[in-house]
Amino acid sequence: MHDTVDKTDQSALVLRGLGVSYGVIQAVRGLELTVNRGEIVTLIGPNGAGKSSTLMATVGLADREGTVELLGQDVSEFGTEQLVRAGLTLSPEGRRIFPYLTIAENLRLGGATAKNPKEIEQRMLERFPKLRARYTQTAGTLSGGEQQMLAIARALMSDPKVVLLDEPSLGLAPKIVDAIFETIADLKTLGISVLLVEQDVERALQIADRGYVMSHGEIQVQGSSSDLLTNTDLKDMFFGERK
Ligand SMILES: Nc1ncnc2c1ncn2[C@@H]1O[C@H](COP(=O)(O)OP(=O)(O)OP(=O)(O)O)[C@@H](O)[C@H]1O
Ligand SMILES: [Mg+2]
Repeated sequence: MHDTVDKTDQSALVLRGLGVSYGVIQAVRGLELTVNRGEIVTLIGPNGAGKSSTLMATVGLADREGTVELLGQDVSEFGTEQLVRAGLTLSPEGRRIFPYLTIAENLRLGGATAKNPKEIEQRMLERFPKLRARYTQTAGTLSGGEQQMLAIARALMSDPKVVLLDEPSLGLAPKIVDAIFETIADLKTLGISVLLVEQDVERALQIADRGYVMSHGEIQVQGSSSDLLTNTDLKDMFFGERK
């Protein structure tokens, strides 16, 4: 471990003053967010709120202002690959897999920096038997839902300490959504900290310890999942149209 890592610090990920702009559009403003070690935290909000921008900026895939702290270490200047090595991985929105590589190759690439890739792969293949059945097939031939599964499995192959999941259940059949949420719950038992962006707000809050609600690029409300689940204003304000 690096000298500057503070092992007494209970935080896994701390974002301070995070700002993201695309030209004149300011997508995220002054965002402050903490994920403690072993916690599942959900970031929810309507379309266009700035959730994906927040995750992308955290892993250096979008220009940003502000600082990022990982396991007590300031990693603001780290590039994306350096962050993966330090234990921070993003499973991005949409299916970002390599379509011309096989499932096995996609997983292997994801696990390139891990110490125990075979062990993690076994865990992923047990959780997602479809990936085992199609192991030597090119990933582009998988259905949309299966590609999404592969994208998540690949992100977890890097053996992250902190994982950012952007809408992992998007477009998936209910049974596969169940497998995804079970996997997220597993991560907690493995001591992995999770920042989860999810459209299925209720389900996200059921699995999370705490939540942040953002709209128009800013955090509007934060609290324990149980408080947010029973917050009627919240339902009317942000999710009324969906439920
Ligand atoms: N690459 C980009 N260039 C320009 N504007 C962008 C870019 N990416 C996002 N935006 C804008 O930034 C704002 C926030 O987008 P973002 O994707 O972060 O929202 P989101 O909360 O993830 O929404 P959704 O729930 O629809 O995924 C939106 O107004 C969007 O149009
Ligand atoms: Mg998004």
